Amino acid sequence: MKMSCFFFATVLAASAADFQKDIQPILEKNCYECHSEKTGKRKGGFVFDELETFKLDIADNDVAQIRPGNPDGSHFLEVIVNASHEKHMPPKGQLSSGDIRKLTDWIKEGALLPGIKPAVASASTPSTPKKALPPIMSWTNLEGKTIRAGFVRLEGSNVVLRMPANGQEVAYPISKLNLESQKQAQDAGSP
Ligand code: HEC
Repeated sequence: MKMSCFFFATVLAASAADFQKDIQPILEKNCYECHSEKTGKRKGGFVFDELETFKLDIADNDVAQIRPGNPDGSHFLEVIVNASHEKHMPPKGQLSSGDIRKLTDWIKEGALLPGIKPAVASASTPSTPKKALPPIMSWTNLEGKTIRAGFVRLEGSNVVLRMPANGQEVAYPISKLNLESQKQAQDAGSP
């Protein structure tokens, strides 16, 4: 319900780069070898062929690999473009400038995935309030361990988180999170 405003806005901003036609072939050729369910490799925890999982890396926050509407802020693109990055991708090779342009356009246009409602606002709706975003966030527990996961819902005294690596939902006791993450859970779960 609360997602409808930016969903419409994103749909209205018709996409020129088409994921299946323009983007998937690039990822398949250059990345699936190490990042796909097809080959069973999830290097760094990233999978690009299973879209329900891939979409968890697409969000408008500091830890997301892809920030819709913001290619410059997208780490995913930086490791591809910057050949001297310590985690340059693909590790051996360099995408053509044409491929990089397609990826850049796709992200600029909101990084839409087919059949998947955008999880976040695109650049066309910069004023969308934070509440409307169900993003991947950092969660830190009382022992100081931090993970990246998407907020799903509050469930009694637990917060249900979705793990980006495998899409699994995990219930975690809110009381075992540090105060900041507890507040983050409450904020994310309040209507
Ligand atoms: C030969 C294997 C291989 C291929 C091909 C490959 N990657 Fe990776 N990728 C890795 C490994 C290994 C890591 C984890 C690196 C680490 O954490 O040190 C990684 C990590 C990443 C990261 C996270 C980087 C970071 O800073 O943590 C991104 C984003 C990524 N890959 C994107 C891609 C994209 C996009 C492609 C295709 C253009 C690609 N990779 C192709 C092996 C590969």
